[in-house]
Amino acid sequence: MGTLKRLGVFDSGLGGLTVLNEVCKYNSGLDVVYFGDTARVPYGSRTVETITRYAEQDVRFLLSQGVQAILIACGTVSTNCLPALQKSFSLPIVGVIDAGCQAALQASRTKRIGVIGTRATVNSHAYERRIRELCPEAKTWGVECPLFVPLIENGFAPDDPITEMTVERYLSAFQGTGVDTVIMGCTHYPFLANTLERHMPDVTFVNVGKALSFGLRQDFDLPESGAPNQVSYFVSDEDTGFLDIARRYLDAVSADNVQKVNIDQF
Ligand code: DGL
Repeated sequence: MGTLKRLGVFDSGLGGLTVLNEVCKYNSGLDVVYFGDTARVPYGSRTVETITRYAEQDVRFLLSQGVQAILIACGTVSTNCLPALQKSFSLPIVGVIDAGCQAALQASRTKRIGVIGTRATVNSHAYERRIRELCPEAKTWGVECPLFVPLIENGFAPDDPITEMTVERYLSAFQGTGVDTVIMGCTHYPFLANTLERHMPDVTFVNVGKALSFGLRQDFDLPESGAPNQVSYFVSDEDTGFLDIARRYLDAVSADNVQKVNIDQF
């Protein structure tokens, strides 16, 4: 393929900006097209067929923008449709599962690892399968957290009492498991990282975007230019309040000049 000139990054919405933020922090000279399917988020409560159909449209849009490789910055799509997308399209496509699992195994002393994610992600068992492939003696627990994405998208602060209560309720599922590491299997969740860490202070929470950003050079032949990264932002619905939150919390992406796309055309 030669040096990658244009990288496509997509998510069901704007959670993938947490991945892009890490990718931009640890790499330079990238020309990125980001697509957030804000008209159809959340994907995590839909069927595999619907998620795959949406993801295929997202990839076709990115192809129309001339990308040569794709990074799926969405846990739900990575866990449910990565093989299907790799079969349907000939360009290189990577997801967040592998890097997330490797980082979790590195961080964990006890090899007792939790996974939090959307319903579709947890039901896929994709993270858990990969962890056991890499380390057969590892023990895993998946906990679905369907209220996290709506809380984040609707601007509930990480320390809002409702956020705190929801975090406490979901994380209580790990009581008695002895997990020392939990993968934030949904790319929205790093917005809640501080709250999660406060509720389980002895546990390492793995940010899958951070985990994969270091290894991106092994996945793709990235330019060595050292020039600033350039990102074009596209969404399928009008600018949402979540974009303001993204700008407030993320330091390496600006998320400005967002253009709207009619995703039904793809
Ligand atoms: N950021 C997506 C993920 O990683 C959001 C979930 C959704 O659309 O439900 O799973």
